[in-house]
Amino acid sequence: MADLYVKEFDMKNPFVVASSPATQGPNNVLKTASIKPGAIVVRNFGHGKGGGSYIGPNSSDIFMGRPTVQSHAIGTGIKDPIGSLEEYCEAIRRIKREMDPDIRLWASIGHYGDIVKGGEWEKDWIRQTEELTRAGADALELHFNTPGVAVMKDRTINYYELVNRCTAMIKQHTTLPVMVKLTVEGCDPLTAIRQAVAAGADGVGPTARWKAFSFDLDWKRTEPRPGSGYGGTQATPIICYTIAETRSKGINIPMYAGGGVFSYEQALQILMAGSNCVQLGSIVCSGGLGAAERLMRRTEEWMDSHGYPDMQSLTGDALKLFNMPKEVAARRTARLGEAYRVTQVDRNECIGCGRCYDVCWNEGIEIADGKARKLDSCIGCGYCFQVCPTGALHVDKGGILAAAFDEE
Ligand SMILES: Cc1cc2nc3c(=O)[nH]c(=O)nc-3n(C[C@H](O)[C@H](O)[C@H](O)COP(=O)(O)O)c2cc1C
Ligand code: SF4
Ligand code: SF4
Repeated sequence: MADLYVKEFDMKNPFVVASSPATQGPNNVLKTASIKPGAIVVRNFGHGKGGGSYIGPNSSDIFMGRPTVQSHAIGTGIKDPIGSLEEYCEAIRRIKREMDPDIRLWASIGHYGDIVKGGEWEKDWIRQTEELTRAGADALELHFNTPGVAVMKDRTINYYELVNRCTAMIKQHTTLPVMVKLTVEGCDPLTAIRQAVAAGADGVGPTARWKAFSFDLDWKRTEPRPGSGYGGTQATPIICYTIAETRSKGINIPMYAGGGVFSYEQALQILMAGSNCVQLGSIVCSGGLGAAERLMRRTEEWMDSHGYPDMQSLTGDALKLFNMPKEVAARRTARLGEAYRVTQVDRNECIGCGRCYDVCWNEGIEIADGKARKLDSCIGCGYCFQVCPTGALHVDKGGILAAAFDEE
């Protein structure tokens, strides 16, 4: 079996169950601990009643492992089980006593609402830092991810300055590693990461959740309240870009990125883009521990069957693709284009549906006698190959691209 140990975070495996209802209060943390993730982030307190959680119509999709766009829970009586810093510290002590010692316990500091409200929030955050350090947390996490923080950036707060100043401030008051959780909404994530690094962050967790307005056309019967904090499968490629860009600029800070991870494939993409760990959020809340455990197991199985013996070999492996030399990329394009250009329609397979003709913008194909036929004017763009329903237009795309890559 692959060795999942992550040395950058000293974690048994790369899965961080992120701050969410699944980590709200000691009972939920201990329940979540049963699937043995590498780390659990205790949800920051101060949510009060409501918890900011609403359910979309698609969470059953997550449970079934299908792509989805959102997941929040509803509950008019949701109440934060941690009401004060004293209760928070007691929760940390209890979790540390009862939880598997191999799971790292990160305590989330503050709440973005504190910043919005103003007042003496910095003093509060420092007190939380000092008390939670004493209570025995393994690391502290700063909460700069929620869309609310990002969207205020041009109103009252400079986001980058906030990240830098708060990180430096918290670092002065703890001996624990400080994890800085960042948004990719409304800011340049690379700049935000640089600010966290400059201020001494021990890890960064870029996360993709946006303010969004989601509804269907039958809107009167859907959302109890459409609102903020939307994620979904579409988030993963965006977060992968942030990870890959950061690594490509030589920034090697330990990273635990997340966003829209509902399948083991997405977890692997986050890791192979260069993040050392991966956050699990909605999948745990809406898919439950069963779905999260399945994802963790399948990630490991995939590593075994694809020759990745450990995290070192896996992490950042896809940067080879992100940073592919121009000549290799050009060769791959040329090889594939040429294959598209010269490959003729298999007349036995063609059913004359005309889809290929429909997507050809170069007069490169015609339908004659009920069958398609490629013409000399074909430029090899490949559109028709994507739409052919029968395989009458077919090339071994994977083989062609891999051969061009391997040759280099
Ligand atoms: C219902 C719900 C509540 C959340 N509440 C918080 C929170 O209080 N603090 C926080 O830092 N992140 C919060 N998050 C974000 C998660 O910690 C995590 O970063 C995010 O869910 C990852 O994206 P994903 O849900 O698409 O996997 C919440 C996420 C969900 C689904
Ligand atoms: S799309 Fe495929 S099956 Fe349809 S006409 Fe073109 S080649 Fe034939
Ligand atoms: S490869 Fe492009 S140009 Fe050639 S026939 Fe197909 S759609 Fe037309």
